[in-house]
Amino acid sequence: MAKPKLLVTRRLPPAVTDRVNATYDAVTNADDHIMSADEVIEKAQGKDALLVTPADKVNAALIERLPASVRMIATFSVGYEHIDLEACKKRGTPVSNTPDVLTDATADITLLLMLGAARRAYEGERAVREAAWKSWSTTYMLGVHMTGKRLGIFGMGRIGQAVAKRARAFDMEVHYSNRNRLPADLEQGATFHANPEDLLGVSDFFSINAPASPETFHWLNAARIAKLPDNAIVINTARGTLVDDAALIAALKSGKLFSAGLDVFENEPNLNPAYRELQNVFLLPHLGSATVDTRNAMGFKALDNLDAFFAGKPLLDRVV
Ligand code: DGY
Repeated sequence: MAKPKLLVTRRLPPAVTDRVNATYDAVTNADDHIMSADEVIEKAQGKDALLVTPADKVNAALIERLPASVRMIATFSVGYEHIDLEACKKRGTPVSNTPDVLTDATADITLLLMLGAARRAYEGERAVREAAWKSWSTTYMLGVHMTGKRLGIFGMGRIGQAVAKRARAFDMEVHYSNRNRLPADLEQGATFHANPEDLLGVSDFFSINAPASPETFHWLNAARIAKLPDNAIVINTARGTLVDDAALIAALKSGKLFSAGLDVFENEPNLNPAYRELQNVFLLPHLGSATVDTRNAMGFKALDNLDAFFAGKPLLDRVV
């Protein structure tokens, strides 16, 4: 039987590429360039499915131009805000994502950002490298203590819960808001705030772990930052669009916030340039899931979904 034809829009980890080539007649992207919409449409001719990433804009205009041969889209990510799901639904094209397998890696990087932002890791690293560190001193580069502080988790899905688990090892008092209250076995003693506005005032650390959606667009704005305790620390490992950058930058500059730790940005990689000028922000280039194990697992999950589709079975992780 002929192998299904697949367009892979970005380079994949080697182990995932091997599996792609074993199962699919695939066009891959060895030099990992960003394909224009025209290139995607051209390369999608005659393909049965697309394997895309969060860096691809699979918007309605692109979906409308897809050749009729394309019957499924798998994304190499848990997030799917880069895909116009309504347009896929209208076209009758199922979409799959890769939940679960990146939960731990993303929660780990949330803790890295919390510690990095609280303990001034960027400034300290820089001082050592630039030979600006002169002597141990009782008052040199003092940070914020994390142990025992209150952590507010905005979005208590799989990743939020994994962050809470790690925070408990730091004896943090965990608070959260979520569409629905979790059952006690998942809540693990965390305090639920039915109104997310109430979460702000109890968040010495405020961690954004909710998906991007029209409702969460620029959710953390100036009015809400004002409700955070003075000296609070903001962490974002979800999506940049949940934060109003101008408001966050103003609060970091004014000293309202002690610092921020950010792995994701609106319009990334073209983030608001003001972030680069600030000392009190710990920045990472969207590395939440960037471990070899996790990226392999994400790729395999995307392929499990494609395999299921072409075997006529239900998708394992269907978002549309
Ligand atoms: C995802 O899968 O949505 C992540 O942001 C990628 O790291």
